[in-house]
Amino acid sequence: MDTLSVWRGTAAPSGFAPLAGPQTADVLVIGGGITGLTLALLLAEQGRQVVLLEAGTLGCGATGNSTGNLYETLATGFHAVADHWGADVARQVRAERRAAVDFISQRCDTLPDASLRACPLYLYAQEPRQQAFVDREIAALAAAGARAERVRVVPAGLPAPQGDVLLLHDQAQFQPQAYLVGLARLAAAAGAQLHEQSRVIELDPKTRVAITDGGFVRAQEIVMATHTPKGVHLVQAEMPVHREYAIALALPAGASADPGPGTFWWHGDERLSMRTLDASGRRYLVCAGQQQKVGIHNARASLLALEALAHRQFGALPVTHRWSAQNYRGADHLPYIGRNQAGCFIATGFATDGLIWGTVAARLIADELQGHKPAFADVLKPNRLSPVKGARNILEENVTVVKQLVKDYLTSRQEEKLSQLAPGDSAIIEVEGESFAAWRSPEGELFAVSNVCPHLGCKVHWNSVETSWDCPCHGSRFRPDGRVIEGPALTGLERKHPDSIG
Ligand SMILES: Cc1cc2nc3c(=O)[nH]c(=O)nc-3n(C[C@H](O)[C@H](O)[C@H](O)COP(=O)(O)OP(=O)(O)OC[C@H]3O[C@@H](n4cnc5c(N)ncnc54)[C@H](O)[C@@H]3O)c2cc1C
Ligand code: FES
Repeated sequence: MDTLSVWRGTAAPSGFAPLAGPQTADVLVIGGGITGLTLALLLAEQGRQVVLLEAGTLGCGATGNSTGNLYETLATGFHAVADHWGADVARQVRAERRAAVDFISQRCDTLPDASLRACPLYLYAQEPRQQAFVDREIAALAAAGARAERVRVVPAGLPAPQGDVLLLHDQAQFQPQAYLVGLARLAAAAGAQLHEQSRVIELDPKTRVAITDGGFVRAQEIVMATHTPKGVHLVQAEMPVHREYAIALALPAGASADPGPGTFWWHGDERLSMRTLDASGRRYLVCAGQQQKVGIHNARASLLALEALAHRQFGALPVTHRWSAQNYRGADHLPYIGRNQAGCFIATGFATDGLIWGTVAARLIADELQGHKPAFADVLKPNRLSPVKGARNILEENVTVVKQLVKDYLTSRQEEKLSQLAPGDSAIIEVEGESFAAWRSPEGELFAVSNVCPHLGCKVHWNSVETSWDCPCHGSRFRPDGRVIEGPALTGLERKHPDSIG
């Protein structure tokens, strides 16, 4: 299935050459999403020698597959931060996120392709029993200083509210991929060296050397702006990993389903986030929802459920783009940003709010590299979690991981013969007590790889929408030939020659 997002399908290409040979840098930034590119630009403007390495093309991670909404609040619930951390931290979170929305808005003054527009955000319940969530959000946001208002209506075209609605003024939205391409050009013009198709395959935090297929970079500082840090990190044990699905529908001129500018969150059992976009002479309605745990859900069923919900609410508009992306949640409702135990910087745990958290992270890390450490940096430091803080989440998630491990190792899901695998099918094949993950391409070529994730040994599951093997434990994903797509794994699934396994 074609899973190119509407943002990546309508933005200008980036086109930076891969790393070739050795390089040195003051700061090596790994990852060309919003975190890495914002940081590369800020550091280059400070006069630092920066190298940025991106495994694929800029934006190919979560940023170019997001929904492009910029807001002070948090999709999983701002009140959870106030409840867990108290009023002072909630005010700081709101202020830092506000500053990041303003930062992006100012940068967009010189980046017209990013299509930034100021707009409100609406949150409302699908059913009366979900109203308490909306009420708590209104109270918590107002207490933290946001322009949060209680209203009764939402713009025409949207599903009708069942109770009071949160209206959050002064938010924004943009075209995230076009913003990244714009930031990259600014960073390159300021002296940053950017390289695409340059996956870091080995990283030595002690000597500060990162190796790619084409060369290596020796740097004084390393920042892993890779959505989740590469290799094994304590925070990975604490972060649930979810995939979320999104679609773009073509909106004909004057359609009754057109709500105009705004971020619209319809909260309930089938959470739906909605917005519009004008790009390449067309108008689109973008809908996102169906958050599911990575590697333990049916990807195709999730995408179909999202399409069915959008069609029920907006009529049979044609679907033009389908995509999905991953998110990592902090166990105590905040991200992890700062130096890890090895002295490298990490920035992760953004949940679905990372266009703003990524910008906050870049600004904090740039400050820290200049010798200033704002008080807020202490709140977000990666090693903050005591067993008491976030204990329930950690336990719940670890139970899932452990159950998964036990289930995977004790039960054989499918026992098939490679020769019986039809084009387009996948299976876990067991041969003489050893299991393999196998997929036959629609053209008939057979791919067989180890089904054991090289990160920490969980077993991978097939994702029929993205044609990938996904690991349920910490979110590593792999192509049918074993190569890494995303997640903490640095190396791929071991390739098996089909002839050697019968
Ligand atoms: C469906 C969906 C919708 C969302 N919508 C919104 C929204 O509207 N607003 C919002 O604020 N947030 C949203 N988010 C969250 C947001 O998109 C992410 O949190 C944010 O984009 C993360 O940015 P990042 O730069 O940290 O990571 P990414 O954008 O994932 O960038 C990390 C980059 O690192 C690269 N990389 C990884 N490993 C290596 C390696 N070994 N070597 C070199 N490069 C490597 C990857 O290829 C990738 O390009 C959404 C998330 C999802 C899933
Ligand atoms: S991602 Fe950690 S074991 Fe697979």
